[in-house]
Amino acid sequence: MHAPRVLVFDSGVGSLSIGAAIHQLIPQANLLYAMDHGGFPYGEWQEEELVTHICQAVTAVLQRHAADILVMACNSASTAVLPALRSILSIPVIGVVPAIKPAAQRSVSGVIGLLATPGTVARAYTAQLINDFASHCCVIPVGSRILAPAIESLFWHDSNIDEVLQQIKAALSEHPRAAEMDTVVLACTHFPLMQKPLSELLPNLQWIDSGEAIARRVAHVINELNLPLDSAGEHGLQEVLILGKEEATPILKRRLEDSRLCLIDY
Ligand code: DGL
Repeated sequence: MHAPRVLVFDSGVGSLSIGAAIHQLIPQANLLYAMDHGGFPYGEWQEEELVTHICQAVTAVLQRHAADILVMACNSASTAVLPALRSILSIPVIGVVPAIKPAAQRSVSGVIGLLATPGTVARAYTAQLINDFASHCCVIPVGSRILAPAIESLFWHDSNIDEVLQQIKAALSEHPRAAEMDTVVLACTHFPLMQKPLSELLPNLQWIDSGEAIARRVAHVINELNLPLDSAGEHGLQEVLILGKEEATPILKRRLEDSRLCLIDY
């Protein structure tokens, strides 16, 4: 029996925030990060085209690199594509969707920011989550088209992101009830990568993302599938695939190496 391999799929470096949470909880698991740089940004795609694109891309990856579990490590994708993926794949599919429920439970003021891509903010799935778990709250949606690309560009090219973070601060402060906001859901997997600078800019907020909950879910599914994890405490492989025509820049390669991630050929 082999140690489980988990495919952590995103349009880009958002896979790193989810993968880090999984690695932290289950270091023995093998992680294959797929970054669909050619399809980035998913947050700008129309829902139907996105579903078709992701089903094709995931199927192609799995044909070349088998995995036991798929984590769709992208809110913009998961809020649209989970039923389609589950209908075509034989492995368990774990989706990453906005952490509205824990945010509603932890907020004291009942005013919550929802920081996401334009796609995630607009999805019926997100409206349903708000309706189901936060109908007693005031949810302030901020659908940013600049933050995920700025984070992608920071990881690929070391681009400066300060101005973009200032714009996010301004966008989160615009709503008439913004002063009451005590909690922000980071509903794009790129955004937890910037939680530190965001919390320095907006120090009185609690920031909630889905990473730890997803890691617990992966551990549960590994257990359900009876996959072996007790390989003498050894760390699993952490490999990265880049989808699309562009090759990783030296800057991205260095960042991956610094996190002990190894780039492999598609
Ligand atoms: N990481 C993706 C998410 O969680 C967003 C980035 C994109 O727009 O592709 O929504």
